[in-house]
Amino acid sequence: MEQSIESYIKNLVRETIGHTLGQLQLQSERRIYVIANWKMNKTLAETAEFLQKINSSNNVSVVVCPPTQLLYPAHLFIKQSGKPVGLGAQNVHWADKGAYTGETSISMLQDVGCEYVIIGHSERRQYSGENDQLVNMKVAQSLKAGLTPIICIGETLEQKNAQKTEQVLTKQLFGALKDIDSGDFILAYEPVWAIGTGQSATAELAQETHSYIRSVLKQIVGQKAESISILYGGSANESNAAEYRAMPDIDGVLVGGASLQAHSFDGIINVFAKGEQNS
Ligand code: PGA
Repeated sequence: MEQSIESYIKNLVRETIGHTLGQLQLQSERRIYVIANWKMNKTLAETAEFLQKINSSNNVSVVVCPPTQLLYPAHLFIKQSGKPVGLGAQNVHWADKGAYTGETSISMLQDVGCEYVIIGHSERRQYSGENDQLVNMKVAQSLKAGLTPIICIGETLEQKNAQKTEQVLTKQLFGALKDIDSGDFILAYEPVWAIGTGQSATAELAQETHSYIRSVLKQIVGQKAESISILYGGSANESNAAEYRAMPDIDGVLVGGASLQAHSFDGIINVFAKGEQNS
């Protein structure tokens, strides 16, 4: 996989003038996120307990994405706690309103305090027919309304083995961002083979892929690609977080399994917060 010139220079800077200073220069332009994707987990009581227990950090943007019915109570718990924790949904419908049984609109999410929404998660692509066109519609409508999309892309094991990773990611990126020329979004690279399997991508492989993603982003949005946070997701946890944190093109993590317990999620927040302070 070819490294972008920027990544090459960044790596060179890190090697030449030392990791700490390099890190400071390279990642300071981008926000660092630690985002919890709870999927279909947690009760009301567990949500209250979790939000009471976790620590937040001013160095890192912490976002929690509970299931839809827990969004409003989560919003209230966060407000009560006074912690700078963002709230995100796991899905949204593209239409303003109407006869779409079981769906939730963008304004409904914003009404209950959501600022973020995960779009195009591989589980939704797999189980709910979410394709690039739908992802694009949802992203466009969310951006228009000021809801920040967390756009997920990633290849399956078969695609990886067939050496189609770059091809798949390029198609997903161009698809998701078709005709999008403004607004802030977050990208999450989530190799499907690493999600919930305990088989996380090595930090080196993730870095290489993130660098590739940024080079494709550059073709789509130009220099703005440098300021877009690209998160890694797929069996990220307390033990491997520091390795991802050290990489110049990895700007945080989207966490499933390890975000279900306050102590392990906290551990990940601490790793990313420390990285920033130390740099
Ligand atoms: P995982 O899930 O951390 O359990 O692998 C990540 C995700 O699906 O967002």
